[in-house]
Amino acid sequence: MSPLLGQRILLGISAGIAAYKSAHLARLLKKAGAEVRVVMTDGAQAFITPLTLQALTGEAVRTSLLDPEAEAGMGHIELARWADTLLVAPATADLMARLAHGHADDLLTTLNLASDARRVMAPAMNQAMWRHPATQRNAERLASDGWQLLGPAAGDQACGDVGPGRMLEPEEIVTALTVGESAGQGGDASANASGPAAGLTITLTAGPTREPLDPVRYLTNHSSGKMGYALAASAARLGARVRLISGPVSLATPPGVERIDVETAEQMHAAALRLAVDSDAFIGCAAVADYRAAAPAEHKLKKRDDAESLTLELVKNPDIIAAVAALPAAQRPLVVGFAAETQDLEHYAQDKLTRKGLDMIVANDVSLAGQGFGADHNAALLLWRRPDATTPGRHQTATLTKTELADTILHHLLERLSARQASDPHTQDTP
Ligand code: C5P
Repeated sequence: MSPLLGQRILLGISAGIAAYKSAHLARLLKKAGAEVRVVMTDGAQAFITPLTLQALTGEAVRTSLLDPEAEAGMGHIELARWADTLLVAPATADLMARLAHGHADDLLTTLNLASDARRVMAPAMNQAMWRHPATQRNAERLASDGWQLLGPAAGDQACGDVGPGRMLEPEEIVTALTVGESAGQGGDASANASGPAAGLTITLTAGPTREPLDPVRYLTNHSSGKMGYALAASAARLGARVRLISGPVSLATPPGVERIDVETAEQMHAAALRLAVDSDAFIGCAAVADYRAAAPAEHKLKKRDDAESLTLELVKNPDIIAAVAALPAAQRPLVVGFAAETQDLEHYAQDKLTRKGLDMIVANDVSLAGQGFGADHNAALLLWRRPDATTPGRHQTATLTKTELADTILHHLLERLSARQASDPHTQDTP
């Protein structure tokens, strides 16, 4: 059975000569059992007509955000929610720039902002345009926003140039969608198997946990998972094998990252201990619920007319990161934790570093506006244990995007790992 069977794929087509291949792509997706709806930019219609795509998919093709008739059918928000995958092929340099900067000036860019779907794009453009630093910056930004970039491939181009910029063949795109991996990377923004973290395995926890009270209710918190996902994306870009144990969040899995979905703290605990033992580093970024219901009700709790209050008995959840830090030395990865505080940041962070037995802690003040939970920016204080000193190492970052902060944390983590390796007698060369 094809993995694409029943998948709802929203195919976005932008204005490149490769748009003629999108008709074949739509056919292949249909053949693989996917439901396909097409959105075309204005420019794309100069290369291929909506009627062609309509005939191939059996669905009306959407071309405009401000089309009252189309909006009366499936409105753009419904369309955004409908999709399991947003696949843009071809993605031109201009569309990549608009997507990277969060524009919403036409239907396709608006759908991108409104959708939680998996995002995949196949860039196609002239080789100089692809190589341009602005396009490379946009590609990096898109990858860290969770877009999976397929290609471009290198070769002869329609304009007569030779180099990277060809859209992958429709068959290659379908295969990549099926296996969930990028194919034919021709550019610099791809996962970097020879990067500074190549050969390392990094396991992370991210997002909130969800603790059931009864079959329909649960305890949780406001964690968006953005910081953990940014760290996972950054670690994969640096070349690490990345395993992301994720609570329920509405974020796309970053390219090249292996994701393990869990709901409760106990499930996260089990997955963390299983994966930590063969990891080089473990980052606990999840906002784990401290307590869970002692005995979740088997049936929905009923409102009672004869009682004005309800008492829930909660019991403590395991401290996941402390359990990983307490693993025997031979199995123990480098352990990095987070501390979200509203006062006495450094004091509480130092205490957590010692009490939980961590190697490094990333502390941030969540009482400051625009930082921490759900925000896109953050500033952090990094503290790390120094075996030969009584005080921890210390670095205060500026206010950064979560992607920049993730890169900074990873940079320090790699430094700590190499310091650890240098002091480990088992890894030193014998004279
Ligand atoms: O104690 P506190 O929740 O402030 O500690 C935060 C750090 O501990 C984070 O790294 C978080 O992921 C981790 N943690 C955990 N398991 C818990 C509670 C916190 O791994 N039960």
